[in-house]
Amino acid sequence: MAVLSTKRLVESLDRTLIQQSQALCDLGVKPGLSAILVEGDPSSVAYYHAKRRLADKLGIAFHGTKLPADAPTDDVLQALHRHAGDPCIHGVFLEMPLPPHIDITAIRNAIPLAKDVDCVSEAAFGRLLVRSSHISTGDLRSMSPATPLAVMELLRSAEIPVAGAHAVVVGRSLTVGRPLALLLLAENATVTVCHSHTTDLTAHTRHADILCVAAGRPHLIGRQHIRPGAVVIDIGIHATSDGLVGDVDTQAVADLAAWVTPVPGGVGALTTRMIFANLLQSAQLATRCVPSTDSTLDPHKERPSS
Ligand SMILES: NC(=O)c1ccc[n+]([C@@H]2O[C@H](COP(=O)([O-])OP(=O)(O)OC[C@H]3O[C@@H](n4cnc5c(N)ncnc54)[C@H](OP(=O)(O)O)[C@@H]3O)[C@@H](O)[C@H]2O)c1
Repeated sequence: MAVLSTKRLVESLDRTLIQQSQALCDLGVKPGLSAILVEGDPSSVAYYHAKRRLADKLGIAFHGTKLPADAPTDDVLQALHRHAGDPCIHGVFLEMPLPPHIDITAIRNAIPLAKDVDCVSEAAFGRLLVRSSHISTGDLRSMSPATPLAVMELLRSAEIPVAGAHAVVVGRSLTVGRPLALLLLAENATVTVCHSHTTDLTAHTRHADILCVAAGRPHLIGRQHIRPGAVVIDIGIHATSDGLVGDVDTQAVADLAAWVTPVPGGVGALTTRMIFANLLQSAQLATRCVPSTDSTLDPHKERPSS
């Protein structure tokens, strides 16, 4: 088995994102991300601070708003509208999970499409549904949700063929499983989606060339679920007394899988970078400064104004 670590990819992404951010600053535009945190959940607090640190490193302005755990939906909406209307802010991000009393649908759909850097609104999801390729073309219509985009970048950088492969996605959440299935489909994989009502999970996962697991169940996937030679992408993250673990029992599948992503050090590290990649794309387009090729992360050039 080879461990599909994202360390080198993360380093190279950081260099590209710093270049893109600097190029915007040279044009007089400081890219800005708004992150809204409703306090309470320890993981959302940790993600918020990780984003702030990464924004500093990439030269991106971080406009954070913290609301108390009992903040009503209207307060979150107010903060969101304030940030969304600020021309210095090119992307608005809501830390998840939100407390259960918040109307999450109203919040998601209040993010304007042009600033929806994690594609959480129904409009952004609809845009994803009708797209035929996940590859960015310097067009906001090609923006993808961060975690599924991280998985696609990982597969691309490791040169794992997707077209024609049988990809099995375990999990169908709106943020991970479902959009990931759409991106894989857009890249011509044959896709099976499993969920908690799937009657025989093993029967499906054992046929996967690429197995992507986002079930939120620690070590759900063991040896019996893997086809020898499969590529296993573990998206789950769980804090346990033994440290962070994923949805895959990595040790158990070690000698069967061709590749497996580690937790930590796998998809998680890439996901935050994808938020910033989307943000920079949004800022580039807002300032008519677009990537020079069809990759989200490639260096960009100025587009003459029409
Ligand atoms: N690495 C990253 O950057 C990143 C980003 C986001 C999330 N995550 C992690 O990824 C995991 C999933 O996140 P999420 O937001 O997608 O979770 P979620 O909203 O709880 O969705 C979990 C999905 O898994 C399915 N599922 C649950 N138990 C299952 C089982 N025994 N067999 C088959 N399917 C099962 C559920 O099916 P039903 O639809 O039938 O309920 C649901 O579709 C979590 O551990 C989360 O922390 C990581």
